[in-house]
Amino acid sequence: MKNIKHITHPLIEHKLTFLRDVKTDPFQFRMLIDEITYLLIFEACRDLELKDVKVQTPVSTANCKKLKTKVMICPILRAALGMLDAVFKIIPDASVGFLGFQRDEKSLEANFFYAKLPDDYKNRTAIVIDPMFATGGTAIEAVKFLKQKGVKNIKFISIIAAPEGLKKFSEKFPDVNVYVSAIDEGLNEKGYIVPGLGDAGDRVFNTLS
Ligand code: URA
Repeated sequence: MKNIKHITHPLIEHKLTFLRDVKTDPFQFRMLIDEITYLLIFEACRDLELKDVKVQTPVSTANCKKLKTKVMICPILRAALGMLDAVFKIIPDASVGFLGFQRDEKSLEANFFYAKLPDDYKNRTAIVIDPMFATGGTAIEAVKFLKQKGVKNIKFISIIAAPEGLKKFSEKFPDVNVYVSAIDEGLNEKGYIVPGLGDAGDRVFNTLS
C-alpha cells in the first residue's frame, strides 16, 4: 500500500500515549489532537508546489518561495473540527470545504448529509482530515464525493487507522496518499479501532455521559 504514509516520530509516539489514555480530559485531548495534526501536516505538505518571489529585507533583496498550491482543507464532521485549527495555523490562507457524513451505527455505512465547498474548489488541492480512519467507509465516500465534483489532487490526514480500512481505501484510491500517525490492531464488532482511543468526537467535544 504505497499510498499509506505511516508517519513515525518520537514526539508523535509520546503524544499518542496521552491521547489514547482514557484518563486524559477533553481539554488536554484537544491540545494533543492539535499538536499531532501539526506534525502530520508538515509531512502531508512536503510536495506542495512553490513559486519564486522576491522580498525586501532590512538589508537586501532575498529570493524566496511562496506556496503556489491553493489548499482546501476538508474536515469531515464532526471529529475533524478538532484538527482544523492546527491546519489553519500552518496554512492560514487555505479555504475550508466542510463534508458531513453520519455513520450508521448498525450497518457502519457512511451517509452523506452536508457539504459546503469554496467557489474555486476545483483549482485547489484538497486535504481531507478525520482523526479516526476506521472501516474506511467515510473516507471512501468523502474522496468519491470530491472526485465526482472534479477535485483532482486529494490527500488524507488521519491520526489513528485500522489496517482493514486502509486496505479497502487503497484498493479503491491508490492515487490518494493517506498520512497517518498510528496503524492499530483492527476493528471491534462496533467498528471502533482497537486499541484506538474511543470516540474521537465525544472526546473532543466532551459529549461522553
Ligand atoms: N470513530 C471514532 O471516533 N473512533 C473509532 O474508533 C472509530 C471511528
